[in-house]
Amino acid sequence: MMNKFMEWVDARFPATKMWEDHLSKYYAPKNFNFFYFFGSLALLVLVNQILTGVWLTMSFTPSAEEAFASVEYIMRDVEFGWIIRYLHSTGASAFFVVVYLHMFRGLLYGSYQKPRELVWIFGMLIYLALMAEAFMGYLLPWGQMSYWGAQVIISLFGAIPVIGDDLTQWIRGDYLISGITLNRFFALHVIALPIVLLGLVVLHILALHEVGSNNPDGVDIKKLKDENGIPLDGIAFHPYYSVKDIVGVVVFLFVFCAIVFFFPEMGGYFLEKPNFEQANPFKTPEHIAPVWYFTPFYAILRAVPDKLLGVIAMGAAIAVLFVLPWLDRSPVKSMRYKGWLSKIWLLVFCVSFVILGVLGVLSPTPGRTLLSQICTALYFAYFILMPFYTRMEKTKPVPERVTG
Ligand code: HEM
Repeated sequence: MMNKFMEWVDARFPATKMWEDHLSKYYAPKNFNFFYFFGSLALLVLVNQILTGVWLTMSFTPSAEEAFASVEYIMRDVEFGWIIRYLHSTGASAFFVVVYLHMFRGLLYGSYQKPRELVWIFGMLIYLALMAEAFMGYLLPWGQMSYWGAQVIISLFGAIPVIGDDLTQWIRGDYLISGITLNRFFALHVIALPIVLLGLVVLHILALHEVGSNNPDGVDIKKLKDENGIPLDGIAFHPYYSVKDIVGVVVFLFVFCAIVFFFPEMGGYFLEKPNFEQANPFKTPEHIAPVWYFTPFYAILRAVPDKLLGVIAMGAAIAVLFVLPWLDRSPVKSMRYKGWLSKIWLLVFCVSFVILGVLGVLSPTPGRTLLSQICTALYFAYFILMPFYTRMEKTKPVPERVTG
């Protein structure tokens, strides 16, 4: 009965073919480790954000007069509204934790190198869309930090010569951030950007499955195949990795739920304290800081004394990641076989990024500004010097087969 039904479907839609191409006959390297959990976890968080987002939208009112109160209404009166909101707000931070670890894996194992350049570029486009999505979502509860955070970021566009002022007005749709801005951010946050994100995720995975997954050894498993054309070091994604990923999902959900139930504000890092007060255009909060996932870039912005140059530096800090596949000239992919210089520079890059993240939360002092300038220089040096140190250093021989 079932076979007959599938035959009927397959004659009209490639259901079995898709299942085989992407799951039961997609051969992934057998040595995936901890860092390979984060792609499927990013998918899980994406689904969480969409589902909880749809339910939040049912009770949220996108107007300057009612937005703040409607969030309170969700928290107090809507059945299970509090958990839906906390799943969504914690999910936003979890998304960035997972995506940062996912990107770090790429740096560690050279997953952006040929032939996975497009996988990386689609990933970077996802990252941009995710940042826009998070930024716009943050305005919606119409708290003090929503308002003033958006004020700081939108006013950055004002630094652009000639068109700056008109551009900021065009983004806001008003002379200042108002209900009009809130309404358009709502439309972009709940409809436009999620569609873009979903589309990009599909492209990201299609590109990955076209070339096949990399692995912690950076070995091309397609080189050695058995008589049936199956890579010797490959195992079918389903059931082997689908089952393994469930372990990751369980551990992740355990930590995620602990945060949702016990620390949803995360000491003011996931939900900032000033945001429990309604937006007031006449009262600037004492200290404006973006949510933690933006703070490294915010610190780079503040490290440069000139506003326009600061905006350019911040943009360049993200843009430079796009060209990473062409900066790495190493003959090997994985950090396991790269030389000391690559290892040290990756460490320097990560430490600078974290320090910048911490500095972006704190109010500036001369000492902190100097430190953020040093870290900004190191952040860029990692990329600018990459073509040189990856070519200069001595690499280790890469084995024929995967090692573990
Ligand atoms: C919504 C966000 C994202 C989702 C749902 C997602 C999903 C996935 C999935 C399911 C995989 C295969 C499993 C794995 O290797 O972990 C993957 C691989 C990959 N992703 Fe993402 N991704 C996202 C964001 C990003 C970003 C922001 C980047 C980098 C800028 C990126 C770069 C890569 C790379 C290079 C691979 C191949 C890794 C390898 O084969 O070693 N992804 N992604």
